[in-house]
Amino acid sequence: MLRIGVLVSGGGTNLQAIIDRIESGYIKDCSIVTVVSSKPNVYALERAKKHNIPAVCIARKDYPSVHEYGEALIQHFERCEVGLIVMAGFLSILGENFVKRFENRIINIHPSLIPAFCGKGYYGIIPHQKALEYGVKVTGATVHFVDVEADSGPIILQKAVYIRDDDTPETLQKRVMEEAEWEILPEAIKLFAEGRLEIDGRKVRIKDN
Ligand code: GAR
Repeated sequence: MLRIGVLVSGGGTNLQAIIDRIESGYIKDCSIVTVVSSKPNVYALERAKKHNIPAVCIARKDYPSVHEYGEALIQHFERCEVGLIVMAGFLSILGENFVKRFENRIINIHPSLIPAFCGKGYYGIIPHQKALEYGVKVTGATVHFVDVEADSGPIILQKAVYIRDDDTPETLQKRVMEEAEWEILPEAIKLFAEGRLEIDGRKVRIKDN
């Protein structure tokens, strides 16, 4: 049984997609044992509680540095004995201590086709605004392992979404979530849980089952 910890900061639609796929039996032998929010009173915490998943806020603003925040998260996730940490709309920066402690066991969903529209400052609606400003015809979402740089770890899955002439950042964000994020994040968790992800330098090989 893979014990999963999920990090959130907002509405939690990606968290919901994971919960739904576990409850439907699509992802097997997994349990979300803790949901942690970096912000108080976010709807993601309510979603967890509705499914009887323990949920807490460990607020970024309560810690003076990224390092100290990371130590608090390390303590919490160690106590929960997690085998995988999923950043599902987590909008705080994590430090080297945290990333090293759970090396190759943290995955993140990012709302663009990395390496476009990613890195420091690109989060939430911003990658969609930038994609529209740039005039790209295709964007999408990426699930990747987390390393010490922002959005730079080995890529597990990507899915493309076509941009429409009348898209606004909001309509694009919604379509990227529906068509890409809610599909590839649960899929990456399923592959991890089945032991089918093999990291080879920058590349992630998906092994047949
Ligand atoms: C999602 O679009 C996710 O990809 C993005 O924040 C949103 C959270 O939505 N994450 C990032 O931008 C991370 N750099 P949610 O709370 O409804 O899942």
